[in-house]
Amino acid sequence: MPNVACAMLDKHKPVLLQESIEALDIQDGEIFLDGTLGGGGHSEEVLRRFPTTRIIGLDRDPEAVKRVREKLNIEIRVENFRHLDKVLEELEVRKVDAILLDLGLSSDQLETSGRGFSFLRDEPLDMRMSNEGIKAKDLLNSWDQHAIELVLHGFGEERDSRKIAEEIVRRRGIKPFETTFELVEAVLKVKPRSFRDKIHPATKTFQALRIAVNEELTNLEIGLEKGFKALDANGRFVVISFHSLEDRIVKNFFRDKVGLGLAKRVTSLYSARGNKPITASMEEIDENPRSRSAKLRVIEKI
Ligand SMILES: C[S@@+](CC[C@H](N)C(=O)[O-])C[C@H]1O[C@@H](n2cnc3c(N)ncnc32)[C@H](O)[C@@H]1O
Repeated sequence: MPNVACAMLDKHKPVLLQESIEALDIQDGEIFLDGTLGGGGHSEEVLRRFPTTRIIGLDRDPEAVKRVREKLNIEIRVENFRHLDKVLEELEVRKVDAILLDLGLSSDQLETSGRGFSFLRDEPLDMRMSNEGIKAKDLLNSWDQHAIELVLHGFGEERDSRKIAEEIVRRRGIKPFETTFELVEAVLKVKPRSFRDKIHPATKTFQALRIAVNEELTNLEIGLEKGFKALDANGRFVVISFHSLEDRIVKNFFRDKVGLGLAKRVTSLYSARGNKPITASMEEIDENPRSRSAKLRVIEKI
C-alpha cells in the first residue's frame, strides 16, 4: 500500500480504467507489459484483480519509475517503449499476453514536475519526459524559423504556425527563451485571448513542442510495431490516445493488422456504431476532465 507521503504525490487518476481492464482481458498467470507506467494506476488495478500476473512496467521518466517502485512490487525499467524488445530480451521473456500504452503525460508531469509542460505555470521550458534529447527552449532558440513552423503546424495543427514561428524568432533575437510564460507571451502577441476561445491560444503550440521534443509520434509507430511483434497469439494490444495525431496512427496500424488477417477487432467492446474507439463516460469526464479526449482502441493478435 502507498504510504501517506506517496499517496499525496500520487495524483494521476488512471483513465478508462474499467474499460482498459476489460480490453486487456488478463487471465491467471499471464504476462502483461505496461509500456507507460505513469502513476502506476493501471498496473496497480491489474495486480489487485489478477495477483498472479507477471507485470513488466516501463516509463521513460525516471521520476515516475521511482514513485511506482515505492508502491508496486513488479518488474520495472526506466525505458522508452520504443525499446521494449530490448527489455524483454534482457528479461528473457519471449512473448507477452497483453500490452497497454496509455499515451501522453501523467498529471504528475503536467502539474508538479516543474519541467514546463503547462502554459498555466511559469517554469523552465524543458518539456522532456526523460532526461534525454533537446530541451524545448533549445529547440526554440536554435531551430530555423521554417522548422519551428513545421513543428507547430505538423504536431499542433496550429493555423497560425507561420506567424507564431516568426514571432518566436523575432523575440529570441532580443533574448533567448527560458521559461513557459515567455513562450505564452509570444503566442498571445499573435493570437490575443478572446472570449470566443474554447481553448487557451497556446494549447496547440505547447502540444506541438512537447511532441517534437519527445519524438512522441515516432516512438508510437516503433512501439506499435515492436509491441505487436512481442504479443503472443490471442494477445491483446490496448492503446489509449489523447489527440487526433496519435489516434490516427493507432487506428491505421490496427486497421492494417486486421486487414492483413493478423489480428481481429474485439467486437464486444466496440460500440454498435462500427469502428469507433471507446471513450469516457460522462461520469468519468466529470470526475476527471483529462479523460475527455481519451480514445481507447484494442485488437487481439491471431
Ligand atoms: C498518461 S501517463 C500513464 C498513466 C498510467 N497508465 C496510470 O494509470 O498511472 C503516460 C506515461 O507514459 C510515459 N511515456 C510517454 N511516452 C513514453 C515512451 N515512449 N516510453 C515510455 N514511457 C512513455 C510518460 O512519461 C507518462 O509517465
